[in-house]
Order: sequence, then structure tokens, then C-alpha cells
Amino acid sequence: MQIDLAGKTALVTGSTQGIGAAIAAGLARAGARVAVSGRGADSVDAALERLRGQVPDGDFLAAPGDIATDEGTRQVLDALPRADILVNNLGIFGARPALEISDEEWRRYFEVNVLTAVRLTRAYLGGMTERSWGRVQYIASDSAIAIPAEMIHYGVSKTSLLAVSRGFAKAAAGSGVTVNSVLAGPTHTPGVEEFVYGLMDSSLPWDEAQRAFMREHRPQSLLQRLIEPEEIANMVVYLSSPLASATTGAAIRVDGGLIDSIVP
Ligand SMILES: NC(=O)c1ccc[n+]([C@@H]2O[C@H](COP(=O)([O-])OP(=O)(O)OC[C@H]3O[C@@H](n4cnc5c(N)ncnc54)[C@H](OP(=O)(O)O)[C@@H]3O)[C@@H](O)[C@H]2O)c1
Repeated sequence: MQIDLAGKTALVTGSTQGIGAAIAAGLARAGARVAVSGRGADSVDAALERLRGQVPDGDFLAAPGDIATDEGTRQVLDALPRADILVNNLGIFGARPALEISDEEWRRYFEVNVLTAVRLTRAYLGGMTERSWGRVQYIASDSAIAIPAEMIHYGVSKTSLLAVSRGFAKAAAGSGVTVNSVLAGPTHTPGVEEFVYGLMDSSLPWDEAQRAFMREHRPQSLLQRLIEPEEIANMVVYLSSPLASATTGAAIRVDGGLIDSIVP
């Protein structure tokens, strides 16, 4: 399969590091022009430098702004008034006992993990349907289906994204625009690496530490290791491509078989 995104412009939210940065690199390798997003101009500039090192002929542009705020969203939309591919990757997570999650914290998770994606979809979807081509994706999580007891606010926000995705797919029916969500499983990002070493012997080499972590704490994973961000990115790049034209309204798992279910 040849994936060619030449002539397409993409916005990947939360792409200064982790899964978002891998998606930005993957889309750029496929020929798309990619807008990189993060809260601060400095972090976006540093990410652009790293991405240009990884993909020397990649076409990247900066789209800084805190998209959890109206002003930050406006900044991003000014930097990129039109997008053919929107990857709503931004998401925050953190453990908190269910009975201790305040209203304020529930609202914050809804604002950052759900409403940012809704707002950007609203901003770009009309243009995509007018041009009869577009790709919108939401990075959800295995936590959307298997709500973690230690972060139900996170899980609920990811379940919401599945509904948002299915709903906007209906709004785009018959238009040539596809809308999907990708359920990522435990992935090797800077935050997760820190989390793993917090639980495992810090003198272990990374490969051993992460395999021991998976064995002890995520035994249901069929992959038995963390997922690399590029492995999530590969699915997102495929779904962003013309080759994925018949996949819409779907929730696609890249969870290493973590969710014990035969239903997607
Ligand atoms: N890591 C995992 O194991 C895992 C598993 C399943 C699903 N996921 C999902 O995958 C997505 C990415 O996760 P990750 O672990 O790669 O994330 P991450 O490493 O924590 O990166 C978060 C990104 O979001 C940006 N960001 C944070 N708040 C922002 C805001 N208000 N406006 C704009 N940008 C903002 C950060 O940039 P700045 O700091 O520069 O603002 C950074 O680029 C999330 O939706 C997460 O829920 C992750």
C-alpha cells in the first residue's frame, strides 16, 4: 500500500511530544503539511526542531495555543484556518480516587479531553464536507471501554469521545469525510516511562522494566509490552489516507489486545 498525503494539511493537537509527535512525524513522512500544537510557543518550536531532525524533508508549521481556552483556540485557527486532516490527540490523565474527584476536576477533564475536540471539529468539518474530502480522528483509550477505578473522569471523557466521533461521522454522512476514533492502549510516552519506573526497580534496563510492568500490572495485554507511539501513529496515518475511505463511524483498537473482547 502506498500512502500519499501530498497536498493535504493536518492539525495534530498535543503534538509536542508522545503519541501526538509520532503522529505528526508519520503524517509528514506520508507527505502532509503538519501543524504542530502545544500550549507554548517555546515547546512547539522545540518540537518542530526535533520533528525536522526526524523527518528532514517534512513540511511542519507551528500552531501554538492552549486549546482548552477560547483565545488559544483562536490562535490555532488563525495559524491554520483550513485543515484536511484533524487528529484530536490532546488528552490529560491522572489517577484520583473516584470519591475525591471534584466538580471542578470533572469539568476540567470534559473541557480538555472532550470539548477541545468538539470545538475543533466544528471549526474544520464544514470546510471538509464542502471540499468533499476530509479525515477527523479522536485518540481515545482502552479506558473508554474498561473504565479504570482510579480515574473514572478520564475513562468517561474517552467514552464521550467515542460518542462524539460516531455522532460527527453521522453529521458527515455521504460527504467523503470520514470520522473515526482510535483506542490506544498503554503506550511508551515520557509520562508513562516515569510511571513505570515509579512502580518497578529503577535499576532495570527499560525493556525489562516495561515487560515486568506489563506482566504484573497489565497481564491481560496480548502484546505483553508497551506500545510504541509509532505503532499508534501507523494506524492514524492509514485512517488519514484515501485508502481508508470506507472506514467511518468506527472505533478502532490499537491496544495490543488489552481489552478482552471480540467486539471492536
Ligand atoms: N500514553 C498512553 O499510554 C496513552 C494510552 C491511551 C491513550 N492515550 C491518549 O493519547 C493521547 C496522547 O497521550 P500522550 O501520553 O502522548 O500525551 P502527553 O505525552 O502527555 O502529551 C500531551 C501533549 O498535549 C499538549 N497539551 C497539553 N495540554 C494542552 C492544551 N491545553 N492545549 C494544547 N496542547 C496541550 C502537550 O504539549 P505542551 O506541554 O507543549 O502544551 C503535549 O504535546 C491522549 O489523548 C491520551 O489520553 C495515551
